[in-house]
Amino acid sequence: MKHEIFEKNTILLTIAILITVSIGGLVQIVPLYTIDSTIEKVDGMRPYSPLELAGRNIYVREGCYLCHSQQIRPFRDEVERYGHYSLAAESMYDHPFQWGSKRTGPDLARVGGKYSNAWHVAHLIRPQDVVPESVMPMYGFLAEKELTFNDAGAHLKALRAAGDPYTDEQIAEAAADFTAQASGEGDVDAVLTRYPKAVIGDFDGDPSKVTELDALISYLQMLGTLVDFTTYKPEGEMAR
Ligand code: HEC
Repeated sequence: MKHEIFEKNTILLTIAILITVSIGGLVQIVPLYTIDSTIEKVDGMRPYSPLELAGRNIYVREGCYLCHSQQIRPFRDEVERYGHYSLAAESMYDHPFQWGSKRTGPDLARVGGKYSNAWHVAHLIRPQDVVPESVMPMYGFLAEKELTFNDAGAHLKALRAAGDPYTDEQIAEAAADFTAQASGEGDVDAVLTRYPKAVIGDFDGDPSKVTELDALISYLQMLGTLVDFTTYKPEGEMAR
């Protein structure tokens, strides 16, 4: 029995284990160096606008991810309920991603455009007013909290350091874009050029100030809307 040599010599056994494990490791690691990215590039994906980013920060702060996932799995029941399954690229500008691990409420990956702004206002202030059996908490206090986000440019800069492709122009105009998107006043066209498909508007119906509620709704209304699935073709898909 040849393995007796290894069983009687621990040093030899250790070396043999190291060689075996290294081969397994190399097979997995080396191919990764030959590709630019593990995330397939998808048309339509762009980094968040300053207002959406502020809304996303509130989403994270309030722990919405504890009850809501943002990840539609490629199973028939999920796709029929929520829409096209989530792509890796759709979370590429999320730091950190909001996939979540629990669904007390529905998945929110494609909630953008599903309801009106007014529905979201009513729902966030008192979910039971629109869905009587809802166990979702009330977030009316967000409507009272004014949001300035004067340091929006610094936020974009920090995200650029993390790899998001914000341009110098987007960083310079961040504060102006924030106000224009929230109020619908100012250079709205520039916001839409810099952030296609951004939802513009005074979300909570009070044009006098930008509130946390405005920002959160602007974020919810764009979730899952950036990729056009009528033209999307997965990379490497075979002809059928
Ligand atoms: C305690 C768990 C819980 C928390 C925390 C929670 N939700 Fe919900 N959410 C629910 C439940 C349950 C529903 C389904 C009933 C309803 O529509 O109110 C829901 C529904 C929703 C819907 C409607 C989704 C759809 O497709 O109909 C949105 C949008 C939403 N929540 C946003 C949020 C946001 C934003 C936060 C954080 C500010 C949040 N939720 C926090 C439990 C929660």
